[in-house]
Formats: sequence, C-alpha cells, structure tokens
Amino acid sequence: MSETDEIAVRAVVAADEVPIKRLHALVFGPGRFARSAYRVREGTPFTSPFCRVAVQGDRIIASLRMTPARVGGQPGALLLGPLAVDTAFANKGYGRRIVEDSFAASAAAGFKLVLLVGDLPYYSRMGFIAVPPGQIQFPGPANPARILARELVPGVLGDYRGLVFAAG
Ligand SMILES: CC(C)(COP(=O)(O)OP(=O)(O)OC[C@H]1O[C@@H](n2cnc3c(N)ncnc32)[C@H](O)[C@@H]1OP(=O)(O)O)[C@@H](O)C(=O)NCCC(=O)NCCS
Repeated sequence: MSETDEIAVRAVVAADEVPIKRLHALVFGPGRFARSAYRVREGTPFTSPFCRVAVQGDRIIASLRMTPARVGGQPGALLLGPLAVDTAFANKGYGRRIVEDSFAASAAAGFKLVLLVGDLPYYSRMGFIAVPPGQIQFPGPANPARILARELVPGVLGDYRGLVFAAG
C-alpha cells in the first residue's frame, strides 16, 4: 500500500467494527466512554446506513458513526459521532468529506436534523450552529455550549425540543 493510493469513502460494514474501535482508541484514548453522546448510543447497533469510513486500500483512515435518534417524541434526527481521523491523515479534509457524504445520504432518506456534542469552531464549517441553551438535552452531562445542530431541512430546529434518545 503506497502513500499515494487513493482514498475512497464508503458505508460501514460489520467487518469494520474492530478496526474502527482501534482507531477510536488511538484518537480518543480511555476517556471516550464517559462522553454523554456515548450514553445515547449505548445498546444501539454498531452501524447504520449513514455511517461512513474513508479507506486507503484496506486501511481505515477516518470513521463516522451516525445514530438515528428522537428528540422528545420527534423522529427524523441523527446523532453524529464519534468522528475520528487518523492523525497521519489529519487536516486533509477527510473529516469533512465523510460527514458531507453521510449528510447527502441522510437527507435523501428523509432525515431532517443532525445533532452532536462538539466544537463549534470545527463543525460550523459544515453548517452546524449552537442549539439555544435548554432546548435539547442529553442523558448525562453535556456542556450546553457544545450541543450543536445542523438542519438538513431548513427551519426544522425549532421543532426539536427535549431529551435526545436513540430511535432504535
Ligand atoms: C477533529 C477531526 C475529526 C478533524 O478531522 P480532519 O480530517 O483533520 O478535519 P478536516 O481536514 O475536515 O478539517 C481540518 C480543519 O479543521 C480544523 N480543526 C480541527 N479540529 C478543530 C477543532 N477542534 N476546532 C476548530 N478547528 C478544528 C483544523 O485546524 C483544520 O483547519 P484548516 O482547514 O484551517 O487548516 C480530527 O482531528 C480528529 O479525529 N480529532 C480527534 C477526535 C475528535 O476530536 N473528534 C471530533 C469529536 S467527535
């Protein structure tokens, strides 16, 4: 496998589970299970049709998990995360590329809103905005300033209020 081999983006398959977990351990370290977004994902299937990886040959160099979710009783949301990019491939646009590939599929499937807990300065480039404090809650501690939303359908954020939980 040479460094110049092309990077491809594809949907996640079951066989990706072990290498993705290895990438997470490398990128996030041991604190990763304490994050509030993990509480939402707990017990949900490892993958959904909207999860993505970027691969160079057989090597997974970036991964994105997307979990269908409800907010309050409202369906049509997805929880984004974890997004992880191998440090050897950072700052080359792969994070953004797999997110945007997933958003195209998510919107085509009728999803309306993507939520995450993360850094606004990074995610604002992909159209995320801060959710007004108190409008949406996560099960477990989440800094309200880090609860972000990206509308796949313009104007829907106001329809989503309450606690985030996996849609199952
Ligand atoms: C954050 C992360 C996903 C970015 O992936 P990436 O493929 O390197 O990102 P992109 O190439 O799409 O974007 C790179 C740009 O984002 C910026 N950036 C990266 N992390 C940032 C952050 N936390 N805040 C603000 N900007 C950030 C980079 O400086 C770079 O800026 P530039 O284009 O002006 O040079 C990756 O670095 C990573 O896996 N980090 C550790 C895990 C993590 O924090 N994941 C996100 C939370 S789930």
